[in-house]
Amino acid sequence: MGDQVLELFPHPGQRRDLKNLYLDQLASLPEDGPPFIYSNYIASLDGRIALPAADRHSHQVPPAIANDRDWRLFQELAAQADLLITSGRYFRQAADAETQSELPVGQAREFDDLRAWRRDQGLRPQPDIAVFSASLDIPLQTLEHYRDRRLFLITGKQADSDKLAELTGDGRMEHIACGDGAAVDASGLKRHLQALAYRRVYAIAGPSVLHTLVSGNALDRLYHTTAHCLLGGKEFDTFVWGEALQPAVALPLLAMYLDTEAPPGCGQTMAVYGR
Ligand SMILES: NC(=O)c1ccc[n+]([C@@H]2O[C@H](COP(=O)([O-])OP(=O)(O)OC[C@H]3O[C@@H](n4cnc5c(N)ncnc54)[C@H](OP(=O)(O)O)[C@@H]3O)[C@@H](O)[C@H]2O)c1
Repeated sequence: MGDQVLELFPHPGQRRDLKNLYLDQLASLPEDGPPFIYSNYIASLDGRIALPAADRHSHQVPPAIANDRDWRLFQELAAQADLLITSGRYFRQAADAETQSELPVGQAREFDDLRAWRRDQGLRPQPDIAVFSASLDIPLQTLEHYRDRRLFLITGKQADSDKLAELTGDGRMEHIACGDGAAVDASGLKRHLQALAYRRVYAIAGPSVLHTLVSGNALDRLYHTTAHCLLGGKEFDTFVWGEALQPAVALPLLAMYLDTEAPPGCGQTMAVYGR
């Protein structure tokens, strides 16, 4: 199929260019109204999104499933965002130099077109960043790289005031308190983000953040790539982690594509769920 994928739903049999497949996905959203929050994962058939890294100190997306074609779509989703949601864990890993990539939109030449697209749309050069944290254990030096973006720290109301002062002092980060405990309760999140005029919010953190969004009824759409291979392993992350969701959260299928080119030898399906 080369540079194309096969649409399986809703128009089965059509071939679509992989490039820009996700770029226009959010174009039809009304310009006003509450923020639209979306997330994106790549998983194996057995539901693994991350396994222990070689040093076993952290978890990483397994090389057997990570691939350039899915990464392109990840970047296209970021190109449409005015705010990213990430986690304290991301910045700790960045401090340990374990993180493989900067927060999107990537500066690599292969994403020049996406950064140009943002300019053409009148968007800021890069999306702003919101960091979910309960521990507030965020190494200050890792924020320097993102001085050109607005940085928000999202916590519960019981967050440690000394650590909060350290992170928000000097205007480094702006604080948003969501929920009565130390952790974020996302049920009021959209209200806060709407007051700040954010419209397209891309959650690129992991399974606890996704669980927080889903339990707070704040997730609108899930992009989910399944690499057609089994990874096994006894220590792994899947893409939602937390208390059982009751009732189960319904995410109807909006679209699905078959990509036979990657990962090599197995291919992947790219599905879009929600609204
Ligand atoms: N395959 C994929 O598509 C994919 C996508 C994303 C991530 N991953 C992988 O998944 C693994 C786990 O990612 P992760 O550790 O970032 O995921 P995570 O479990 O969502 O996030 C961990 C951190 O987020 C903060 N957090 C989560 N929920 C919170 C809440 N309700 N209130 C306040 N803070 C909250 C906490 O930060 P503090 O500790 O600072 O309190 C927590 O330690 C990583 O290996 C990552 O590479 C894979």
